[in-house]
Amino acid sequence: MAGIWIIANWKSNKSIAEALEWIDIIGPKLPETENLKIAVCPRFSVLAEVKKAVIASNFPLLVGAQDLSPYGAGAYTGEEPAELLHDFCDLAILGHSERRKNFAETDEMIAEKVKQAKESNIIPLVCVQDTDTMVPEGTQLIAYEPVWAIGSGNSDTPENANEAAGKIKEKWGQDLKVLYGGSVSAENAKSFTDMPHLSGILVGTSSFDPDEFLKICQTFVL
Ligand code: PGA
Repeated sequence: MAGIWIIANWKSNKSIAEALEWIDIIGPKLPETENLKIAVCPRFSVLAEVKKAVIASNFPLLVGAQDLSPYGAGAYTGEEPAELLHDFCDLAILGHSERRKNFAETDEMIAEKVKQAKESNIIPLVCVQDTDTMVPEGTQLIAYEPVWAIGSGNSDTPENANEAAGKIKEKWGQDLKVLYGGSVSAENAKSFTDMPHLSGILVGTSSFDPDEFLKICQTFVL
């Protein structure tokens, strides 16, 4: 779990063709340093294609889902169970504020999703909106994302984000790795990870364009 995490969240965007084009542009140029963990999280129906493309060219890129089922395989129409997803993904974003708000996800559901992910060797990346949001047992990776900063162009300050990350660790466990998310760009990305309590970034809008996301990744290489 050590190192800096740079995670692209494509949300409900990109056709298979657009996704593969992004991988083609970015893959060969990604920095290959031990301490960087770079991941892309496409929507479900693009996951397998992206994972195949990454494996075929051996790009230094992890692949993540944006959600998964709180249940295992079975009679749960419309859900994606971790045990069937794990062939295509290394991690899963869980409890994003857009899911809590638009799909009524509760802390209890998110805790079940964390359990399912871990049982299938998928790393859960749990999004919390403030320092009080419940962090389910067994979580190691958190993204602190204040709702007002998401997609607004107004990021939190590195100092505030660092303070929040420190509080989250105090409350939920000192071993947690905390990332910051909310209007991260190439201009501000490094200022967050320079903070002692922050271990990476979760990037939405600025990850959609491959050149922009590449710029963010390259700010972490001297
Ligand atoms: P943003 O999204 O970078 O567009 O603010 C971040 C997120 O929703 O994870």
